[in-house]
Amino acid sequence: MSTNNIYVTQPSLPPLEEFLPYLENIWSTKILTNGGPYHQQLEEELCKYLGVKHISLFNNGTIALITALQALKISGEVITTPYSFVATANSLLWNNIKPVFIDIDRKSLNLDPNKIEAAITDRTTAILPVHCYGTACDVDQIEKIAQRHKLKVIYDAAHAFGVSCHCGSVLNHGDLSILSFHATKVFNTFEGGAIICKDNAMKNHIDNLKNFGFINETTVIESGINGKMSELNAAVGLLQLKHITTALKKRQVIAHQYNQGLSKIPGITILENNYSSKANHSYYPIFVENNYGITRDQLYQKLKEQNIFTRRYFYPLISDFPTYKNLYSTSMHLLHNANEAANKILCLPIYPDLEDSSVNKIIDLIAN
Ligand SMILES: Cc1ncc(COP(=O)(O)O)c(C=O)c1O
Repeated sequence: MSTNNIYVTQPSLPPLEEFLPYLENIWSTKILTNGGPYHQQLEEELCKYLGVKHISLFNNGTIALITALQALKISGEVITTPYSFVATANSLLWNNIKPVFIDIDRKSLNLDPNKIEAAITDRTTAILPVHCYGTACDVDQIEKIAQRHKLKVIYDAAHAFGVSCHCGSVLNHGDLSILSFHATKVFNTFEGGAIICKDNAMKNHIDNLKNFGFINETTVIESGINGKMSELNAAVGLLQLKHITTALKKRQVIAHQYNQGLSKIPGITILENNYSSKANHSYYPIFVENNYGITRDQLYQKLKEQNIFTRRYFYPLISDFPTYKNLYSTSMHLLHNANEAANKILCLPIYPDLEDSSVNKIIDLIAN
């Protein structure tokens, strides 16, 4: 791998010497997993940092999503977005639930609340929106609709670590929210994830589910899974948390630099995030419009030739994968905005250690 390559993201890592005492402690106590001390400490510290009541750590975001659906006993049909990472819809299929895709809003790129009610049937039990790129969904409207139709709401907040909307942490909306701490995310534990919930009973329920369904040494009350986070990953998380403020600040500076450099280029539209009062700049998506001169894919290729590896998230749409494309809700005419975004969005490199000069080079290449 050439060191000159610039990828869409690069994982943040704490200094290695900070990790060594944690390793020594794990080796001396021999506590490796099963809700050990680092696991407990990380849950406490994340609750404080994120401003949420309860958090259950997981080994990844996908298992957290699957477990969240189990915890609320969701069945039948669930309304969701096609403009996301495939894990969102896969978690439904793994629970034998039919995904019903609705179109996204052209500006936020999140599921369009105005399209929800038309998609509700007597089999609908829940809504699964995604805070795409960390942009907060229209949580108030979604909540109103859910209440009116007695539907549960689970937010896929995999991109929304540390994001606030008008009333504080966006993670406090819906019945449950899930996070991903994958290596590519703003806050990573190498692999990891979490479910956020609001009360103690639900937290216990989720903790049992992620531990095979055990409630004590000898009693299994439901068919749980192994979703536990190890002490190694939890220790990484504790260290990452020490550096998160600096990391988010650096992302903000880069996003600002891109905004300045790209806002006046004809045919390039910057996604304005007016929906989050505190953003995390986890991605930097731009629209490559028809009047730009070359297509999104040509720009992707041009940057690649300069060793700049942007990503066409989320192309193809989930609804275009073979597992999903025969569903009625995947019809092209129903998903106009999602198809447009999938064909025009390019996510530019953004990560704390991305150098000024690299950002300027990317801006220059796009400008010329
Ligand atoms: C929107 C979304 N949902 C779910 C996931 C799954 O998370 P994980 O990779 O931690 O399983 C991801 C990311 O990878 C994602 O981007």
